[in-house]
Amino acid sequence: MHTDPTGRDPRKFGDELLAPPRCPVAHAPDGEVLVLGHAEAVEVAADPQRFSSAVSAHMQLPNGLDGEEHARFRTLIDAYLEPAVVEKHEDAFRRTAHHVAAEALAADSVDAVLDIGARFAVRSMTAWLGWPEEFEERLLAWVVENFAATRSGDRSRTAAVAAEFDGIIAEVVRPRLENPAAFDDVTCQLVHDTSLGRKLEFPEIVSILRNWTGGDLGSMALSIGVILHALAHEPELQERLRQGVAREEFTAIADELLRRDNPFVSNRRITTCPVTLGGAELPEGQRVRIHWTAANRDPEKFADPDAFLPAENAAANLVWGTGPHYCPGKPLSMLELRAMIEELLALAHVSSADGETVRALHPVGGWRRFPVELKAT
Ligand code: HEM
Repeated sequence: MHTDPTGRDPRKFGDELLAPPRCPVAHAPDGEVLVLGHAEAVEVAADPQRFSSAVSAHMQLPNGLDGEEHARFRTLIDAYLEPAVVEKHEDAFRRTAHHVAAEALAADSVDAVLDIGARFAVRSMTAWLGWPEEFEERLLAWVVENFAATRSGDRSRTAAVAAEFDGIIAEVVRPRLENPAAFDDVTCQLVHDTSLGRKLEFPEIVSILRNWTGGDLGSMALSIGVILHALAHEPELQERLRQGVAREEFTAIADELLRRDNPFVSNRRITTCPVTLGGAELPEGQRVRIHWTAANRDPEKFADPDAFLPAENAAANLVWGTGPHYCPGKPLSMLELRAMIEELLALAHVSSADGETVRALHPVGGWRRFPVELKAT
């Protein structure tokens, strides 16, 4: 296990490939091609005709689709994630965040990722989708097992975790299919969505919900860990946020903190024809992995990748991807992140606590464990 109390050690899969001379494209031992350079990551993400997202045998809506089919599903999904729609949930997120922060303040020891990040991610997601509160502990246990299974690289374990999640989703979907009048929530709205000109099939509903929840619970938890780690080490920035900043300023700060240490590491593509990328010749059918974390720290693009320059680096920031698959969940994520960070800072000063700070390992990034000390404001 790689532990890293300083936060500056090489840390993620592919980092060794960033040492000079830097290669924008590299062959991984498993036969995938890693896209590490910023220009190359943008080139791949922006060109679905040469780099298809149809990389999995499993249904992945909308991320496994290309072209018009992708656009149709994006229109359906975007309607749920538009800023004006998600903002209606802000009060619920604030209340949830306040409770999580108060519980953490009262606890003897607090891990920023699990006790704050994961707990808040699960509670705010269930509040958003209208899932019963009794799912909280199961979902939390699932997030922890999902991190562990992903780390293990054991396919049967990751498949079991995925199947367990589909089971949880099915439990939520079925009653809403059978008795829609009993529910008035986002999940029920999706279950009976006809914006494609037809009802969604059961596997399609499960796939969309899996995409909104499964992976993103982990991403939210890790993002909160990354932001709290930065604030614990940069007290002036912490104080600035405690005094209150405008929404745009918060977004710019969070974007830049996540760029420096991007916990949402990568996405896959497959070439549809022979291509030249970053000087490398790739055949048709080559699997490639856009390494957002590396691209967001590409020294060709960011002279000092550790510098904190929200305004200067905004245009090149790839935390939320780029091109047709750009994350539709950013407004929701930012609303949640801001609620959690601001409610916590209103109650407490955050600093590193004694105890082991542990880096997350590929294929996730950020911190796996970050013990924090909270002192009432
Ligand atoms: C901190 C949290 C998050 C990060 C860093 C993040 C990042 C990303 C990135 C980089 C992509 C691009 C994928 C690609 O190009 O293949 C993406 C896609 C996506 N994200 Fe997020 N995301 C986050 C949270 C969320 C949340 C909370 C939701 C929904 C509730 C969401 C929904 C989606 C969907 C549906 C896609 C696929 C879009 C498509 O294929 O067109 N994300 N996300």
